[in-house]
Amino acid sequence: MTGPKAPAHGSPRPLAGPIVTLDGPAGAGKSTTAREVACRLGFRHLNSGTFYRALAFALLDAEIVPERWSELRTEHFDALPLRVEPTSEGFRTMLDARVLEEELRSPLVTGEASRLAAFAPVRAWLLGVQREVGRGGRLVADGRDMGTVVFPEAELKFYLTADLSARARRRLRDHGVDAPTVAEIEEEARRIEDRDRCDSERRHAPLRRPDDAYEIDTTRLEFDQQVEAIVARVLGAG
Ligand code: CDP
Repeated sequence: MTGPKAPAHGSPRPLAGPIVTLDGPAGAGKSTTAREVACRLGFRHLNSGTFYRALAFALLDAEIVPERWSELRTEHFDALPLRVEPTSEGFRTMLDARVLEEELRSPLVTGEASRLAAFAPVRAWLLGVQREVGRGGRLVADGRDMGTVVFPEAELKFYLTADLSARARRRLRDHGVDAPTVAEIEEEARRIEDRDRCDSERRHAPLRRPDDAYEIDTTRLEFDQQVEAIVARVLGAG
C-alpha cells in the first residue's frame, strides 16, 4: 500500500477540513451509513475496515501464511503491491492493477482481517496510511478506532450499536439471505461475537466508544433515520 509519509506514531497533522467518525461493532451498519452520510455531506467516505481486509487479502495472495503474521514489520507491508487510491466517493484498494472489491468480503478474509488487526506493526502501518489519505479532511471515516486513535481530533464522533441478533440478520441480508433460519442467525451471531471479542479484547487500539462520541442504537431504526440523525447533528454543529 502507498507507504505512509507521516510518522506512524505521534500526533496527527492539522486537518484541512472536518472529519466525522463512526465506530462500532461488526454489523451495526457503520459502513453503509457512513457512505450515505458522506454522500449527503459531499465528503469522502473512508472505510477503514477495507484497509485491514485488503492487507489480509494481499498477504494471503502473496502466500505469507497467517502463522507468520506476528513477525511482519513495516518493510514487509511496504513491499506488497498494495495501493489506496482516492475515488470521487471515497477510496479504493488495489493489488497491482486489480481493484479489490467482493474478494474482501469472503468469510476467510473477514476472519483473517480481524486476527491481523490485533498486531501492533499492522496497526501502526495502517495508522500512517489512514492519516495520510485523510489529511485533507472532509471525510466520514468508519471503523473501530477512528474516533479514539486515527482521528482523535475529529469534529464529530458517533458510536453505532445494535443488538446481536439484529446485527446477524443484517449481515445475512448483506450476503443475500433475506429469510434466514434460526440456525443461520445463531451461526452468524456466533461469528460476529467472535470478532467483537477479538476487536474489544486486543491490546492495541481495542474497539471502544470514544468518550466524546454520540451513541446511536440502530436496532429499531430504519436506515434513513440513522443517516438523518447523523447528518442533522453534523449540520447542526457546523
Ligand atoms: O464491516 P465489518 O464491521 O464487519 O468489518 P470491517 O469494518 O470491514 O472490519 C474488518 C476487521 O478489520 C474488523 O473485524 C476489525 O478487526 C478490523 N478493523 C480494525 O481493527 N480497526 C478498524 N478501524 C477497522 C477494522
